[in-house]
Amino acid sequence: MMKQPPADVVWHPHQVSKATRAHAKGLNTSAVLWFTGLSGSGKSTIANALEQRLAELGYHTYLLDGDNVRHGLNRDLGFSDADRMENIRRIGEVSKLFVDAGLLVLTAFISPFQADRQLVRQLHKDREFIEIFVDTPLAVCEQRDPKGLYLKARTGAIKHFTGIDSTYEAPIAAEIHLKTVEMDIDSCVSAILQYLNDGGYLRQSVSGFSDAL
Ligand code: ADX
Repeated sequence: MMKQPPADVVWHPHQVSKATRAHAKGLNTSAVLWFTGLSGSGKSTIANALEQRLAELGYHTYLLDGDNVRHGLNRDLGFSDADRMENIRRIGEVSKLFVDAGLLVLTAFISPFQADRQLVRQLHKDREFIEIFVDTPLAVCEQRDPKGLYLKARTGAIKHFTGIDSTYEAPIAAEIHLKTVEMDIDSCVSAILQYLNDGGYLRQSVSGFSDAL
């Protein structure tokens, strides 16, 4: 894989800036809300609920979801360490484009490796990358087993399953830490909205916004 573009490919600056596009979308700062956690931890569920709330508040968002992106852009990738790394690298670049488009981007990928998440963080400017740890114990995920995949992993029908025979490295300093055994979906959504509000991401007035919380 090429690490740099060919020498004759030159970056083309555009007249309309990221800040202008973000402003047009009601934001002071566009950003990616990067959900990470085990399979079945609730990443997609919380991201979906958050996106719905943001839509009701009039925000333009886009949700990139692991299972869905693996049907298209990343359908050539499996679950080896190298493929997961490439999965996250591509999503990191796609997120960067959406942030440049001035949106709030939500991503829901296991993204099990600290180093890969760190690379994505470094792709973004300060404050544009908001890591959200969906902290659900393995035992709870396995008990829920919404897709029956843990059972298959335990019986060996699926190899390299995160939490079973592939590692999950929990974030060390996530911006938002959601302990889902203590918080319901609404509380998780409110905590994230509060973070966006307090961090000055949203242009809507604080009082008007608080009513919506
Ligand atoms: S990641 O590790 O590369 O970030 P991603 O979030 O895209 O994973 O995909 C995870 C989803 O793929 C899981 O929710 C599950 O539905 C499915 N899946 C299939 N095989 C595996 C596996 N071996 N490990 C983890 N998830 C798997």
